[in-house]
Amino acid sequence: MSPTLNTLDDSRLLLSPLLEIDFAGFNCRNPFWVASGPPSSEWEKIKALDEAGVGAIIGKTCCLDASLIHNPASRTAVQMLGKTKIGLINTELISDKDINEWERIMELAVEQLQCLFIPSVMEEPRKDAWQEIAYRFVKRGAKVIKLNLSCGHGMPERGMGGAVGEVPEATFNTCSWVKEAVGDGIVVMAKMTGNGDIASVTRAVLDAHCIPAGINTIRALGGVDPKTGSPRPSNSGNGTRGSLSGPAIHWIACEKVATMAEIIRDEYDGAVPLVGIGGADSWDTCLNFLRYGAIAAEMCTAFMFRDPKELVRELSDGMLAYMVEHNYSRITEFVGASLPHVLGHSEHVKVHEQAKAKRQLV
Ligand SMILES: Cc1cc2nc3c(=O)[nH]c(=O)nc-3n(C[C@H](O)[C@H](O)[C@H](O)COP(=O)(O)O)c2cc1C
Repeated sequence: MSPTLNTLDDSRLLLSPLLEIDFAGFNCRNPFWVASGPPSSEWEKIKALDEAGVGAIIGKTCCLDASLIHNPASRTAVQMLGKTKIGLINTELISDKDINEWERIMELAVEQLQCLFIPSVMEEPRKDAWQEIAYRFVKRGAKVIKLNLSCGHGMPERGMGGAVGEVPEATFNTCSWVKEAVGDGIVVMAKMTGNGDIASVTRAVLDAHCIPAGINTIRALGGVDPKTGSPRPSNSGNGTRGSLSGPAIHWIACEKVATMAEIIRDEYDGAVPLVGIGGADSWDTCLNFLRYGAIAAEMCTAFMFRDPKELVRELSDGMLAYMVEHNYSRITEFVGASLPHVLGHSEHVKVHEQAKAKRQLV
């Protein structure tokens, strides 16, 4: 008999084997991952997320020379729809912590964390810089490395982030440089931008033998403060173009995840795992990513808005209840299950007309 929610006690719910996934050979206790950003910017927060039970944590993106990173003081503005928080505009850059501190965090993660810790790196468009930063983390025990090819504000002014990830050739080169430096035993995951044509950059990532994850934030400009007329977030009365995250971008992310999953299914034998990111904040929004073909769902804004323990508990409870109701005993039984139902528009209309005609015959 399959377990029901009532037969599982509290601790088993969080650690239920039903939720375990295999990501490129790494066992994760669940598919609920923390995306790069403020929730994973310091060791204490990373440790607390691990204790809350997340499946993996991707560190805040770092670089070799943090002295070049100048973050605006005020850099986030919550976006409301009535009384509901629907998104966040941010103008934050990557981490301004020294690379040595990130190397130390990597060592602590290897020693102390239950979950997979994935460092996130970004460099100027130079082979030596990308290879050095990736190799430094491998030396400290990283088994998976994430390349940030997708930050949409600030960093592109220096040829970084979205400036790489919106160009297939630059994406392929960067992924290939890192793969060459770290060797076959290390998994390299490239975080994609939702701002450009995701299909061509996904192919570039896959051709370089890396794993696609996406999306990052969507380029946006915060609304103005009605009292002062300043764009929000503002510093000394001025703002800057930033990026939108949270529920407001979720369905854009679903479309991108489905597109990446179709490419993996149709052109790469379905042999590569995929990670979904963007606006997930509940078990059913994570389910959207899984059913469209992702093996895990990363969340950043949700972990900024919510208490991690409470959130992981809700995600696990909700997903387990769904699995019990539908008689699933593994996450992989429904990964990609909704993808065959995403049709081209004409085909969608044709299939519907055929089904209608068949119904009229009986
Ligand atoms: C304040 C803030 C800082 C972020 N910093 C990073 C970063 O350093 N590296 C990165 O790859 N993504 C970064 N992101 C993007 C998130 O990891 C994620 O891709 C994006 O916010 C969409 O997911 P979400 O809606 O769950 O937040 C940041 C997002 C926010 C809101």
